[in-house]
Amino acid sequence: MLELVGQTLGQYRLEKLLGKGGMGIVYRAFQPKLNRNVAIKILSRTYGNNPDQVRRFHREAETAASLEHPHIVPIYDYGTEREMKYVVMRMLTGGSLAETLDRWIKDKKSPIALSDIALLLRQIAGALDYAHERGVIHRDVKPSNVMFDDYGNAFLVDFGLVKLVNATDSALTSDGIILGTPAFMAPEQWRDQPLTGAVDQYALAMLIYLLITGEIPFNPNANPYELMRLHCYAEPTPPNTKRHDVSEAMSKALLRAMAKDPGDRFARVMDFAEAFQAALAEPVSAVQSPGLSDPERTLHPGPPKRANPVAMIRVEQSRDHETIGKVMHLDTFPFQIGRLNRDLNFNGDRNVSRNHAQITCNESGEFFIEDQGSTLRTTVDELEIQPYQPVKLAHNSRICLGTTTLLTFSLEAGSGQR
Ligand SMILES: Nc1ncnc2c1ncn2[C@@H]1O[C@H](COP(=O)(O)OP(=O)(O)OP(=O)(O)O)[C@@H](O)[C@H]1O
Ligand SMILES: [Mg+2]
Repeated sequence: MLELVGQTLGQYRLEKLLGKGGMGIVYRAFQPKLNRNVAIKILSRTYGNNPDQVRRFHREAETAASLEHPHIVPIYDYGTEREMKYVVMRMLTGGSLAETLDRWIKDKKSPIALSDIALLLRQIAGALDYAHERGVIHRDVKPSNVMFDDYGNAFLVDFGLVKLVNATDSALTSDGIILGTPAFMAPEQWRDQPLTGAVDQYALAMLIYLLITGEIPFNPNANPYELMRLHCYAEPTPPNTKRHDVSEAMSKALLRAMAKDPGDRFARVMDFAEAFQAALAEPVSAVQSPGLSDPERTLHPGPPKRANPVAMIRVEQSRDHETIGKVMHLDTFPFQIGRLNRDLNFNGDRNVSRNHAQITCNESGEFFIEDQGSTLRTTVDELEIQPYQPVKLAHNSRICLGTTTLLTFSLEAGSGQR
């Protein structure tokens, strides 16, 4: 699409490529009639061209354009030309929050002041509540979708874009491509459940957590399946254990906004912003751990670090007699159980599927077993578990693979998880 520079789309002359995202490509363009620069986004995955789909594009674009709020980038126009669908918006010249964060990480500057974060949170929260009251959900709140004008005012961009490029309400397209940004997606988005404004609150809480600590709560480099598991089941590390000037009240407000169940989050995003603001005045507890001077802090942390093994598994019974009595420490994840080249192999027991089950561990050190679609299923403490649904393991949990292999799971003393 690079060759579009110099061409005209509607009344806009494309002048410079500004960047490319998952859902489109953005140019600076000139609108001669009004003698102004605008930003124009050409959508990459758009509806087809049948009249119903074009109507739907227009309806969604109109809804996005109807939002008038001091912290939402104004949509000036939209259109379709040469099978390209585009949206024209105000050109913002102060860069994006993603760029601010990159600079901050690179320069190893002192942490962003909590009062600045509180101000940004109030601006964005107001914009989101305004849209939610009008039935519009953003669906893709993340640092690159928060931009600034020259005065440092924040604007949400790409409102409803996920819906503009997708013909259904789902976060997945018909061909299974994830729309939205996995590192910020709420459990209900992963589960393809009906969405409410609470998904934006969740994503915003992830973003605020990132601004405070320099890290996204869940490893953004994990594969989408692992990320889904983390968002759906893992508890984020409380931010007050990562930064010394964060009070417990502030930590609580953040964790509430990122609750797994949307019903447990704040009723309005502004309630979250106000709880955060009020928490600024709260005293900070004396027991604090690593500050932001931690040299390992990065925007994209690697896999969670684990202490020495804290759990093990013992084979009690199996048709593969050689394995009986075997004890294995759980220290690599996912820990795979099955036949042929697994972490724990039962090659002599045909009742165990090749890829029967796996054990995973979350950042809080909790362990889960997940059946991998085995033929003869898995039970935990006599109850059959659903394939691909992680089930938490407790000390002395009894795991039965198929009908003949019995394992016990145990936590070692000192792991604190009994
Ligand atoms: N209104 C705007 N004014 C100025 N620059 C913009 C505007 N909107 C987007 N940009 C810039 O265009 C680039 C691409 O934006 P785009 O939204 O396509 O990418 P993204 O936000 O990273 O991904 P996504 O497609 O998921 O939103 C970004 O660098 C962004 O800073
Ligand atoms: Mg964007």
